[in-house]
Amino acid sequence: MCGIIGAVAERDVVPILLEGLKRLEYRGYDSAGVAIIDYQTQGLACRRVVGKVNALESVLQQKSLYSPTGIAHTRWATHGKPTEKNAHPHISQDTIAVVHNGIIENHQTLRSFLQEQGYVFHSETDTEVVVHLIHYYTTQGHDVLQAFRLTLKRLEGNYALAMISPLASGHVYATRQGCPLVVGVGIGEYFIASDVAALIPVTQRIIYLEDGDVVDLQRDQLSITNLAGKVCERPIHISQLRADAVERGEFRHYMLKEIFEQPHALAETLEGRIHNDQILEAAFGANAHHLLDEIYAVQIIACGTSYHAGLVARYWIESLAKLPCSVEVASEFRYRQPLPNPNALVVCISQSGETADTLAALHEAKRLGFGPSLAICNVPESALARAADMVLMTRAGPEIGVASTKAFTTQLLCLLMLTVVLGRRNGTISELEKVIVRAMRSLPDQLQKLLELNQEIKQIAEEFADKHHTLFLGRGVHYPIAMEGALKLKEISYIHAEAYPAGELKHGPLALVDADMPVVAVAPNDTLQEKLKSNLEEVHARGGQLFIFANHRAIMQGSDFVKIIELGEINEYISPIAYTIPLQLLAYHVALIRGTDVDKPRNLAKSVTVE
Ligand code: G6P
Repeated sequence: MCGIIGAVAERDVVPILLEGLKRLEYRGYDSAGVAIIDYQTQGLACRRVVGKVNALESVLQQKSLYSPTGIAHTRWATHGKPTEKNAHPHISQDTIAVVHNGIIENHQTLRSFLQEQGYVFHSETDTEVVVHLIHYYTTQGHDVLQAFRLTLKRLEGNYALAMISPLASGHVYATRQGCPLVVGVGIGEYFIASDVAALIPVTQRIIYLEDGDVVDLQRDQLSITNLAGKVCERPIHISQLRADAVERGEFRHYMLKEIFEQPHALAETLEGRIHNDQILEAAFGANAHHLLDEIYAVQIIACGTSYHAGLVARYWIESLAKLPCSVEVASEFRYRQPLPNPNALVVCISQSGETADTLAALHEAKRLGFGPSLAICNVPESALARAADMVLMTRAGPEIGVASTKAFTTQLLCLLMLTVVLGRRNGTISELEKVIVRAMRSLPDQLQKLLELNQEIKQIAEEFADKHHTLFLGRGVHYPIAMEGALKLKEISYIHAEAYPAGELKHGPLALVDADMPVVAVAPNDTLQEKLKSNLEEVHARGGQLFIFANHRAIMQGSDFVKIIELGEINEYISPIAYTIPLQLLAYHVALIRGTDVDKPRNLAKSVTVE
């Protein structure tokens, strides 16, 4: 993954690079670095540290850098451990400095070639081949830009790259191939970054680059060409992102802020998409009307939390729209050689719209001959949003916490909208549409009330803090919600958590139940509640400690071993969305007590742009 940023200006760009890196930290945070062309010596100067951007900032306070031209990087290690040597920027012969996001797949071959040319490698990274290769071509009589282009022609894999060189002082060169990269257009200054959010403090004028674009940034000039050197015209967009949208404000963590933003986020998701108690089909794009015509099945593809949203949708789509629906993790789908169904709508769900496996799975589905595609996505202009035939934006606003929260609930709402549209077309929901739409409208208020459980859940969280394992149970459409609850807990508290369909309990997991194994049950007042209660009694009878999230306390007799968290009356169609909230809060408070880095849990990153 990793985040990259570069700038060329008249002023000192180091503070801009640092601020940008902080805003890119969600992409990786195990080491960070910055390289500049030194104002006085006109040579390269570089600082690299293991750890987060704050650590780089401290180093820069002691050993400052000052320059109008620079590049910087925050890393999520793929090749080589998070060490200072493996941190970017990488430098060749004091002449070329490069930052990289992605993976160079043919790095071994290139490494051998460069070693034969006498280059000595200082890191275990795949990136180091890029920097030496550019240098190699400069020694063959090419200028830096030509050397950059020649290097790109030899790279296989996915990358966004930015580079500087004293041989081309006042230039930042950059490119993308399969990894995101945008240009920021300032007044007499230009920037490059993995994400718009990194540039918002300096400009809102953004150019979204295409794969293969090669940019040459100078203080007062920008050129975008393709690999062959032909000029590419790319429009400037005015970003709607506000600088404070990516700030924490009064909240202790982004995750908490994002949990509390959900009532607003869901209201945004619905905005302008409902008319006369009906979901507007046009919300899926102008061409949705005819693209949805021949749809008789749905194939959902996603990763992580987004995959859980897909699992919930399967229950909705099959029971309400009466269409067969398959859901698969993208990394499996893309290599499984699934049998294509030309009448299956391919739904790719992704917060970032950049997840490598989901993108590749979409391309694979197209190649195989599946039907039209729909991206449910949170980032406009992301690769996924651009690659799909239809797009439904979740409109959750920027999500910074690595553990996804508001993106998930807004994805669910989008999927419920899709279910309604498909059901209407299939003639299976008629009057029910009104009921579902009204329930959707009530969501912001309902979630606001559920957030009041925060204090109660904070107390309950104490009982998890010293545990090593937790079991989550659910049935039916709430089973994937139990899975999402378990994922949240393991991601940020590092407690091993598993989810099971409660009916499976006696086929294995019951053997694990004892006083040290808290069991969390998602137990709404639905048709499966009685069956679930029997499963919970089985846990109770074996001395397990139960934490039951239910509509009403009456579900079971409360005791020291049976804690019931009452959510109140909730419409069945929006119930999976509502039950997500307390589970997010539980994971958050447990992690807080355990003192983990809630927003940046170890070993993870938010945007997984590598396989
Ligand atoms: C990473 C993130 C998860 C996210 C998953 C899929 O694992 O940490 O929060 O659910 O990627 O990301 P996407 O952007 O495709 O939804």
